[in-house]
Amino acid sequence: MVSAGGMEYGPVQPEEVQPLWALLDQALNISLVPGWNDHVGPDRFRVLRRGGKLAGGMGIVPMGQWFGGSSVPTGAVTSVGIAPEFRGAGAASMLMKSSLDEIHEEGWPLSTLFPSTLNFYRHAGYERAGVKVVYEMPTTAIDVGSRELDIVEVDDSSHEDIYITYNARAQSTSGNLDRPPVLWEPILGFGGRQVYSYLITGPDGPEGYVIFQQSRSAAHIRVRDVALLTQNAALKLLRFFADHRSTIDSISWNGAPNDLMVHALGEQEAKMTKSRDWVMRIVDVEGALAARGYPAGYEGELHIRVEDNLLPWNTGDYVLEVAFGRGKVRRGGRGDLRTGVRGLAALYSGHVAPVELRAMGAMDGDDATIAAATLMFASPSPWMSDQF
Ligand SMILES: CC(C)(COP(=O)(O)OP(=O)(O)OC[C@H]1O[C@@H](n2cnc3c(N)ncnc32)[C@H](O)[C@@H]1OP(=O)(O)O)[C@@H](O)C(=O)NCCC(=O)NCCS
Repeated sequence: MVSAGGMEYGPVQPEEVQPLWALLDQALNISLVPGWNDHVGPDRFRVLRRGGKLAGGMGIVPMGQWFGGSSVPTGAVTSVGIAPEFRGAGAASMLMKSSLDEIHEEGWPLSTLFPSTLNFYRHAGYERAGVKVVYEMPTTAIDVGSRELDIVEVDDSSHEDIYITYNARAQSTSGNLDRPPVLWEPILGFGGRQVYSYLITGPDGPEGYVIFQQSRSAAHIRVRDVALLTQNAALKLLRFFADHRSTIDSISWNGAPNDLMVHALGEQEAKMTKSRDWVMRIVDVEGALAARGYPAGYEGELHIRVEDNLLPWNTGDYVLEVAFGRGKVRRGGRGDLRTGVRGLAALYSGHVAPVELRAMGAMDGDDATIAAATLMFASPSPWMSDQF
Protein backbone atom coordinates (compact mmCIF):
# COMPACT_ATOMS: atom_id res chain seq x y z
CA MET A 1 0.00 0.00 0.00
CA VAL A 2 1.23 3.54 -0.85
CA SER A 3 -0.07 6.66 0.99
CA ALA A 4 0.40 10.35 0.27
CA GLY A 5 -1.63 13.52 0.92
CA GLY A 6 -4.49 11.68 2.65
CA MET A 7 -4.73 9.23 -0.29
CA GLU A 8 -4.02 5.53 -0.20
CA TYR A 9 -3.27 3.21 -3.16
CA GLY A 10 -3.41 -0.57 -3.00
CA PRO A 11 -5.15 -3.84 -3.95
CA VAL A 12 -8.95 -4.19 -3.81
CA GLN A 13 -10.38 -5.56 -0.55
CA PRO A 14 -13.13 -8.21 -0.98
CA GLU A 15 -15.82 -5.85 0.36
CA GLU A 16 -14.72 -3.17 -2.15
CA VAL A 17 -15.21 -5.28 -5.30
CA GLN A 18 -18.92 -4.57 -5.93
CA PRO A 19 -18.66 -0.86 -4.93
CA LEU A 20 -15.65 -0.54 -7.28
CA TRP A 21 -17.55 -2.09 -10.21
CA ALA A 22 -20.47 0.30 -9.52
CA LEU A 23 -18.10 3.29 -9.32
CA LEU A 24 -16.38 2.32 -12.61
CA ASP A 25 -19.73 1.73 -14.39
CA GLN A 26 -20.83 5.22 -13.41
CA ALA A 27 -17.47 6.86 -14.26
CA LEU A 28 -16.94 5.15 -17.62
CA ASN A 29 -20.60 5.15 -18.67
CA ILE A 30 -19.99 2.31 -21.17
CA SER A 31 -19.13 -1.34 -21.04
CA LEU A 32 -16.88 -2.80 -23.75
CA VAL A 33 -17.87 -6.36 -22.96
CA PRO A 34 -20.64 -7.08 -20.42
CA GLY A 35 -19.01 -8.07 -17.13
CA TRP A 36 -15.55 -6.98 -18.39
CA ASN A 37 -14.17 -5.96 -14.97
CA ASP A 38 -15.22 -9.25 -13.37
CA HIS A 39 -13.75 -11.11 -16.35
CA VAL A 40 -10.41 -9.30 -15.84
CA GLY A 41 -10.69 -10.17 -12.14
CA PRO A 42 -10.48 -8.08 -8.94
CA ASP A 43 -6.87 -9.16 -8.31
CA ARG A 44 -5.83 -7.18 -11.40
CA PHE A 45 -7.42 -3.98 -10.02
CA ARG A 46 -6.02 -1.31 -7.76
CA VAL A 47 -8.01 1.22 -5.78
CA LEU A 48 -7.44 4.71 -4.50
CA ARG A 49 -8.99 5.68 -1.15
CA ARG A 50 -9.31 9.19 0.17
CA GLY A 51 -10.10 9.70 3.86
CA GLY A 52 -10.78 5.94 4.03
CA LYS A 53 -13.44 6.16 1.24
CA LEU A 54 -13.22 4.47 -2.14
CA ALA A 55 -12.36 7.30 -4.59
CA GLY A 56 -11.46 5.35 -7.74
CA GLY A 57 -9.68 2.45 -9.32
CA MET A 58 -8.18 0.90 -12.44
CA GLY A 59 -7.05 -2.44 -13.85
CA ILE A 60 -3.57 -3.48 -15.04
CA VAL A 61 -3.44 -6.53 -17.32
CA PRO A 62 -0.10 -8.03 -18.36
CA MET A 63 0.09 -8.43 -22.14
CA GLY A 64 2.72 -8.26 -24.84
CA GLN A 65 2.91 -5.92 -27.81
CA TRP A 66 4.78 -6.80 -31.01
CA PHE A 67 7.44 -4.36 -32.16
CA GLY A 68 10.08 -5.32 -34.74
CA GLY A 69 9.08 -8.99 -34.55
CA SER A 70 9.47 -9.25 -30.74
CA SER A 71 6.75 -9.33 -28.11
CA VAL A 72 7.50 -6.62 -25.54
CA PRO A 73 5.75 -6.95 -22.14
CA THR A 74 3.26 -4.17 -21.47
CA GLY A 75 1.05 -3.31 -18.51
CA ALA A 76 -2.24 -2.73 -20.32
CA VAL A 77 -4.38 -0.29 -18.35
CA THR A 78 -8.15 -0.69 -18.35
CA SER A 79 -11.20 0.89 -16.67
CA VAL A 80 -9.63 3.97 -15.07
CA GLY A 81 -12.24 5.89 -13.10
CA ILE A 82 -12.51 8.37 -10.26
CA ALA A 83 -15.87 9.01 -8.54
CA PRO A 84 -17.14 12.47 -9.60
CA GLU A 85 -16.96 13.95 -6.09
CA PHE A 86 -13.24 13.12 -5.85
CA ARG A 87 -12.19 14.55 -9.23
CA GLY A 88 -9.91 17.54 -9.87
CA ALA A 89 -7.78 16.93 -6.77
CA GLY A 90 -5.00 14.74 -8.13
CA ALA A 91 -6.60 11.36 -7.33
CA ALA A 92 -6.15 9.90 -10.82
CA SER A 93 -2.62 11.31 -11.00
CA MET A 94 -1.69 9.40 -7.86
CA LEU A 95 -3.43 6.27 -9.16
CA MET A 96 -1.44 6.43 -12.41
CA LYS A 97 1.91 7.21 -10.76
CA SER A 98 1.53 4.37 -8.24
CA SER A 99 0.47 1.92 -10.95
CA LEU A 100 3.43 2.92 -13.16
CA ASP A 101 5.74 2.24 -10.20
CA GLU A 102 4.12 -1.19 -9.90
CA ILE A 103 4.43 -1.88 -13.64
CA HIS A 104 8.12 -0.97 -13.33
CA GLU A 105 8.59 -3.30 -10.36
CA GLU A 106 6.99 -6.11 -12.38
CA GLY A 107 9.63 -5.53 -15.07
CA TRP A 108 7.15 -4.63 -17.85
CA PRO A 109 8.91 -1.89 -19.87
CA LEU A 110 5.76 -0.49 -21.53
CA SER A 111 2.24 0.52 -20.59
CA THR A 112 -0.58 0.86 -23.14
CA LEU A 113 -4.16 2.08 -22.96
CA PHE A 114 -7.13 3.59 -24.82
CA PRO A 115 -7.55 7.15 -23.53
CA SER A 116 -10.89 8.87 -23.12
CA THR A 117 -8.89 12.06 -22.63
CA LEU A 118 -5.41 12.53 -24.08
CA ASN A 119 -4.59 15.52 -21.89
CA PHE A 120 -4.72 13.55 -18.65
CA TYR A 121 -2.58 10.65 -19.91
CA ARG A 122 -0.03 12.97 -21.49
CA HIS A 123 0.49 14.38 -17.97
CA ALA A 124 1.47 10.82 -17.01
CA GLY A 125 3.94 10.46 -19.93
CA TYR A 126 1.74 8.53 -22.41
CA GLU A 127 1.70 9.51 -26.10
CA ARG A 128 -0.31 8.55 -29.20
CA ALA A 129 1.47 5.46 -30.50
CA GLY A 130 -0.86 3.65 -32.88
CA VAL A 131 -4.41 3.30 -34.21
CA LYS A 132 -7.48 1.12 -33.99
CA VAL A 133 -9.60 1.52 -37.10
CA VAL A 134 -13.00 0.16 -38.10
CA TYR A 135 -13.93 -0.38 -41.75
CA GLU A 136 -17.38 -0.89 -43.20
CA MET A 137 -18.41 -1.89 -46.70
CA PRO A 138 -21.60 -2.94 -48.53
CA THR A 139 -21.45 -6.58 -49.65
CA THR A 140 -22.59 -5.44 -53.13
CA ALA A 141 -19.43 -3.28 -53.40
CA ILE A 142 -17.13 -6.31 -53.33
CA ASP A 143 -15.70 -6.24 -56.85
CA VAL A 144 -12.86 -8.76 -56.50
CA GLY A 145 -12.56 -12.28 -55.14
CA SER A 146 -11.10 -15.70 -55.57
CA ARG A 147 -12.30 -19.22 -54.87
CA GLU A 148 -8.78 -20.60 -54.98
CA LEU A 149 -8.23 -21.39 -51.29
CA ASP A 150 -10.51 -23.41 -48.99
CA ILE A 151 -12.68 -21.87 -46.31
CA VAL A 152 -14.05 -24.23 -43.68
CA GLU A 153 -16.17 -23.70 -40.59
CA VAL A 154 -14.27 -24.71 -37.49
CA ASP A 155 -15.11 -25.49 -33.87
CA ASP A 156 -13.25 -25.22 -30.56
CA SER A 157 -10.76 -27.89 -31.65
CA SER A 158 -9.21 -25.42 -34.13
CA HIS A 159 -8.25 -22.75 -31.62
CA GLU A 160 -4.60 -23.67 -31.98
CA ASP A 161 -4.69 -22.88 -35.75
CA ILE A 162 -6.38 -19.57 -34.97
CA TYR A 163 -3.77 -18.62 -32.35
CA ILE A 164 -0.88 -19.55 -34.67
CA THR A 165 -2.35 -17.55 -37.56
CA TYR A 166 -3.05 -14.54 -35.36
CA ASN A 167 0.49 -14.63 -33.92
CA ALA A 168 2.05 -14.89 -37.39
CA ARG A 169 0.15 -11.75 -38.46
CA ALA A 170 0.85 -9.93 -35.17
CA GLN A 171 4.56 -10.66 -35.29
CA SER A 172 4.92 -9.36 -38.85
CA THR A 173 3.25 -6.02 -38.16
CA SER A 174 3.66 -3.39 -35.46
CA GLY A 175 1.70 -2.74 -32.26
CA ASN A 176 -0.57 -5.83 -32.38
CA LEU A 177 -1.14 -7.36 -28.96
CA ASP A 178 0.33 -10.63 -27.79
CA ARG A 179 -3.10 -11.59 -26.52
CA PRO A 180 -3.59 -13.16 -23.09
CA PRO A 181 -6.63 -15.45 -22.48
CA VAL A 182 -8.57 -12.50 -21.04
CA LEU A 183 -8.70 -11.03 -24.59
CA TRP A 184 -9.15 -14.31 -26.50
CA GLU A 185 -12.14 -15.51 -24.44
CA PRO A 186 -14.59 -12.73 -25.44
CA ILE A 187 -13.50 -13.07 -29.11
CA LEU A 188 -14.09 -16.81 -29.18
CA GLY A 189 -17.60 -16.51 -27.82
CA PHE A 190 -17.68 -15.79 -24.11
CA GLY A 191 -21.47 -15.46 -23.46
CA GLY A 192 -23.49 -13.61 -26.11
CA ARG A 193 -24.91 -14.53 -29.51
CA GLN A 194 -23.88 -17.23 -31.98
CA VAL A 195 -20.30 -16.80 -33.19
CA TYR A 196 -19.15 -18.26 -36.53
CA SER A 197 -15.50 -19.18 -37.06
CA TYR A 198 -13.88 -20.08 -40.41
CA LEU A 199 -10.33 -21.02 -41.32
CA ILE A 200 -8.89 -20.21 -44.75
CA THR A 201 -6.32 -22.79 -45.81
CA GLY A 202 -3.86 -23.09 -48.67
CA PRO A 203 -1.52 -25.88 -49.73
CA ASP A 204 0.84 -25.18 -46.79
CA GLY A 205 -1.76 -24.73 -44.06
CA PRO A 206 -3.81 -21.84 -42.62
CA GLU A 207 -3.51 -18.48 -44.39
CA GLY A 208 -6.22 -16.71 -42.44
CA TYR A 209 -9.32 -16.91 -40.28
CA VAL A 210 -12.44 -14.92 -39.54
CA ILE A 211 -14.70 -14.94 -36.49
CA PHE A 212 -17.98 -13.06 -36.81
CA GLN A 213 -21.55 -12.53 -35.67
CA GLN A 214 -24.64 -11.76 -37.76
CA SER A 215 -27.05 -9.02 -36.80
CA ARG A 216 -30.55 -9.92 -37.99
CA SER A 217 -32.05 -6.48 -37.41
CA ALA A 218 -29.40 -4.70 -39.48
CA ALA A 219 -28.56 -7.47 -42.02
CA HIS A 220 -24.97 -6.89 -41.01
CA ILE A 221 -21.91 -9.05 -40.35
CA ARG A 222 -19.77 -7.73 -37.52
CA VAL A 223 -16.35 -9.34 -37.62
CA ARG A 224 -15.05 -9.95 -34.10
CA ASP A 225 -11.62 -10.93 -35.31
CA VAL A 226 -9.86 -11.52 -38.61
CA ALA A 227 -6.26 -12.28 -39.55
CA LEU A 228 -5.10 -12.70 -43.14
CA LEU A 229 -1.55 -13.64 -44.03
CA THR A 230 -1.71 -13.47 -47.83
CA GLN A 231 -3.43 -11.61 -50.64
CA ASN A 232 -5.06 -14.89 -51.72
CA ALA A 233 -6.63 -15.26 -48.27
CA ALA A 234 -7.96 -11.68 -48.53
CA LEU A 235 -9.49 -12.42 -51.95
CA LYS A 236 -11.03 -15.65 -50.64
CA LEU A 237 -12.62 -13.86 -47.68
CA LEU A 238 -13.95 -11.08 -49.92
CA ARG A 239 -15.54 -13.74 -52.14
CA PHE A 240 -17.01 -15.43 -49.05
CA PHE A 241 -18.55 -12.13 -47.86
CA ALA A 242 -19.84 -11.37 -51.38
CA ASP A 243 -21.62 -14.75 -51.32
CA HIS A 244 -23.71 -13.36 -48.42
CA ARG A 245 -25.08 -10.45 -50.49
CA SER A 246 -28.67 -11.72 -50.90
CA THR A 247 -29.28 -11.46 -47.13
CA ILE A 248 -26.42 -9.41 -45.66
CA ASP A 249 -26.14 -5.74 -46.66
CA SER A 250 -22.82 -4.81 -45.08
CA ILE A 251 -19.82 -6.00 -43.12
CA SER A 252 -17.54 -4.24 -40.67
CA TRP A 253 -14.20 -5.19 -39.19
CA ASN A 254 -11.27 -3.81 -37.23
CA GLY A 255 -8.40 -3.68 -39.66
CA ALA A 256 -4.92 -2.42 -40.36
CA PRO A 257 -4.12 1.09 -41.63
CA ASN A 258 -2.98 -0.71 -44.81
CA ASP A 259 -5.60 -3.42 -44.76
CA LEU A 260 -5.29 -6.42 -47.08
CA MET A 261 -9.02 -6.55 -47.90
CA VAL A 262 -9.33 -2.79 -48.41
CA HIS A 263 -6.25 -2.77 -50.62
CA ALA A 264 -7.51 -5.69 -52.74
CA LEU A 265 -10.75 -3.92 -53.74
CA GLY A 266 -11.00 -2.46 -57.23
CA GLU A 267 -12.73 0.69 -55.94
CA GLN A 268 -12.52 2.72 -52.72
CA GLU A 269 -15.85 1.51 -51.36
CA ALA A 270 -14.68 0.34 -47.89
CA LYS A 271 -15.04 3.33 -45.58
CA MET A 272 -13.07 3.88 -42.41
CA THR A 273 -15.97 4.57 -40.04
CA LYS A 274 -13.94 4.98 -36.84
CA SER A 275 -10.34 5.66 -35.99
CA ARG A 276 -9.03 5.97 -32.48
CA ASP A 277 -5.45 6.30 -31.31
CA TRP A 278 -4.18 4.25 -28.38
CA VAL A 279 -1.42 5.67 -26.22
CA MET A 280 1.74 4.12 -24.86
CA ARG A 281 4.20 4.96 -22.12
CA ILE A 282 7.82 3.89 -21.94
CA VAL A 283 8.09 2.77 -18.31
CA ASP A 284 11.70 1.62 -18.56
CA VAL A 285 13.69 3.17 -21.41
CA GLU A 286 16.61 0.76 -21.20
CA GLY A 287 14.40 -2.33 -20.94
CA ALA A 288 12.07 -1.17 -23.74
CA LEU A 289 14.85 -0.39 -26.22
CA ALA A 290 16.52 -3.74 -25.55
CA ALA A 291 13.31 -5.80 -25.77
CA ARG A 292 12.00 -4.81 -29.22
CA GLY A 293 13.34 -6.01 -32.55
CA TYR A 294 14.93 -3.79 -35.22
CA PRO A 295 15.17 -4.03 -39.01
CA ALA A 296 17.27 -7.07 -39.94
CA GLY A 297 20.37 -6.08 -41.86
CA TYR A 298 20.53 -2.60 -40.38
CA GLU A 299 23.58 -1.74 -38.30
CA GLY A 300 24.02 1.52 -36.48
CA GLU A 301 24.31 3.44 -33.26
CA LEU A 302 22.07 6.16 -31.86
CA HIS A 303 22.91 8.43 -28.92
CA ILE A 304 19.64 9.34 -27.21
CA ARG A 305 18.97 11.82 -24.39
CA VAL A 306 15.65 11.23 -22.62
CA GLU A 307 13.83 13.43 -20.15
CA ASP A 308 11.10 12.01 -17.91
CA ASN A 309 9.60 14.22 -15.21
CA LEU A 310 7.49 11.49 -13.63
CA LEU A 311 9.68 8.36 -13.62
CA PRO A 312 13.15 9.70 -12.75
CA TRP A 313 15.08 6.48 -13.53
CA ASN A 314 14.41 7.10 -17.24
CA THR A 315 16.06 10.51 -17.44
CA GLY A 316 19.56 10.32 -18.89
CA ASP A 317 21.75 9.52 -21.87
CA TYR A 318 21.69 6.19 -23.70
CA VAL A 319 23.57 4.57 -26.55
CA LEU A 320 21.49 2.17 -28.63
CA GLU A 321 23.56 -0.14 -30.81
CA VAL A 322 21.62 -2.13 -33.40
CA ALA A 323 22.88 -5.18 -35.30
CA PHE A 324 21.32 -8.48 -36.49
CA GLY A 325 17.83 -7.20 -35.66
CA ARG A 326 18.58 -6.69 -31.95
CA GLY A 327 19.45 -3.63 -29.86
CA LYS A 328 22.05 -3.33 -27.11
CA VAL A 329 21.64 -0.41 -24.72
CA ARG A 330 24.12 1.25 -22.41
CA ARG A 331 24.07 4.43 -20.39
CA GLY A 332 26.12 7.40 -21.57
CA GLY A 333 26.94 8.86 -24.98
CA ARG A 334 26.59 12.25 -26.65
CA GLY A 335 22.81 12.76 -26.53
CA ASP A 336 22.54 13.49 -30.28
CA LEU A 337 18.79 12.75 -30.36
CA ARG A 338 16.98 14.64 -27.60
CA THR A 339 13.42 13.78 -26.64
CA GLY A 340 10.97 13.55 -23.80
CA VAL A 341 9.59 10.16 -22.82
CA ARG A 342 6.41 10.93 -24.83
CA GLY A 343 8.32 11.62 -28.05
CA LEU A 344 10.22 8.40 -27.45
CA ALA A 345 6.95 6.40 -27.25
CA ALA A 346 5.81 7.70 -30.67
CA LEU A 347 9.25 6.94 -32.14
CA TYR A 348 9.43 3.49 -30.52
CA SER A 349 6.11 2.31 -31.95
CA GLY A 350 6.76 3.88 -35.36
CA HIS A 351 3.55 5.95 -35.17
CA VAL A 352 5.26 9.27 -35.90
CA ALA A 353 8.39 9.66 -38.05
CA PRO A 354 11.38 11.36 -36.41
CA VAL A 355 11.23 14.22 -38.93
CA GLU A 356 7.58 14.79 -37.95
CA LEU A 357 8.38 14.56 -34.23
CA ARG A 358 11.04 17.22 -34.70
CA ALA A 359 8.55 19.49 -36.49
CA MET A 360 6.09 18.91 -33.62
CA GLY A 361 8.72 20.06 -31.12
CA ALA A 362 8.80 16.61 -29.50
CA MET A 363 12.33 15.70 -30.66
CA ASP A 364 15.54 17.46 -31.49
CA GLY A 365 18.65 16.43 -33.44
CA ASP A 366 20.55 17.27 -36.61
CA ASP A 367 19.52 15.86 -39.99
CA ALA A 368 21.99 12.94 -39.87
CA THR A 369 20.70 11.86 -36.43
CA ILE A 370 17.07 12.14 -37.54
CA ALA A 371 17.86 10.06 -40.65
CA ALA A 372 19.57 7.36 -38.54
CA ALA A 373 16.59 7.22 -36.14
CA THR A 374 14.25 6.88 -39.14
CA LEU A 375 16.08 3.79 -40.39
CA MET A 376 16.46 2.23 -36.96
CA PHE A 377 12.76 2.49 -36.05
CA ALA A 378 11.35 1.85 -39.55
CA SER A 379 8.27 -0.42 -39.28
CA PRO A 380 4.75 -0.97 -40.61
CA SER A 381 2.21 1.57 -39.21
CA PRO A 382 1.39 0.45 -35.65
CA TRP A 383 -2.17 -0.67 -34.96
CA MET A 384 -4.25 -3.14 -32.99
CA SER A 385 -7.68 -4.64 -33.50
CA ASP A 386 -8.48 -5.10 -29.79
CA GLN A 387 -9.87 -2.66 -27.26
CA PHE A 388 -9.59 -3.06 -23.52
C1 LIG B 1 -10.29 11.41 -16.25
C2 LIG B 1 -10.31 11.19 -14.73
C3 LIG B 1 -9.79 9.78 -14.44
C4 LIG B 1 -9.40 12.24 -14.08
O1 LIG B 1 -9.45 12.09 -12.67
P1 LIG B 1 -9.01 13.25 -11.66
O2 LIG B 1 -8.73 12.66 -10.33
O3 LIG B 1 -9.96 14.35 -11.72
O4 LIG B 1 -7.63 13.74 -12.34
P2 LIG B 1 -6.47 14.62 -11.67
O5 LIG B 1 -7.06 15.53 -10.65
O6 LIG B 1 -5.38 13.74 -11.20
O7 LIG B 1 -5.99 15.45 -12.96
C5 LIG B 1 -4.67 15.58 -13.40
C6 LIG B 1 -4.63 16.43 -14.67
O8 LIG B 1 -5.25 15.77 -15.75
C7 LIG B 1 -6.04 16.67 -16.54
N1 LIG B 1 -7.43 16.19 -16.57
C8 LIG B 1 -8.10 15.60 -15.58
N2 LIG B 1 -9.34 15.26 -16.01
C9 LIG B 1 -9.43 15.63 -17.30
C10 LIG B 1 -10.45 15.54 -18.30
N3 LIG B 1 -11.62 14.98 -18.04
N4 LIG B 1 -10.19 16.05 -19.51
C11 LIG B 1 -9.00 16.62 -19.78
N5 LIG B 1 -7.99 16.74 -18.87
C12 LIG B 1 -8.20 16.24 -17.64
C13 LIG B 1 -5.96 18.03 -15.89
O9 LIG B 1 -5.06 18.81 -16.65
C14 LIG B 1 -5.40 17.73 -14.52
O10 LIG B 1 -4.46 18.68 -14.15
P3 LIG B 1 -4.93 20.10 -13.49
O11 LIG B 1 -6.01 19.76 -12.54
O12 LIG B 1 -3.66 20.57 -12.87
O13 LIG B 1 -5.36 20.89 -14.66
C15 LIG B 1 -11.73 11.37 -14.13
O14 LIG B 1 -12.24 12.61 -14.55
C16 LIG B 1 -12.71 10.29 -14.52
O15 LIG B 1 -12.81 9.27 -13.84
N6 LIG B 1 -13.49 10.52 -15.62
C17 LIG B 1 -14.48 9.59 -16.11
C18 LIG B 1 -13.86 8.26 -16.55
C19 LIG B 1 -12.75 8.42 -17.55
O16 LIG B 1 -12.77 9.25 -18.44
N7 LIG B 1 -11.72 7.59 -17.37
C20 LIG B 1 -10.59 7.49 -18.23
C21 LIG B 1 -10.80 6.25 -19.07
S1 LIG B 1 -9.51 6.01 -20.19
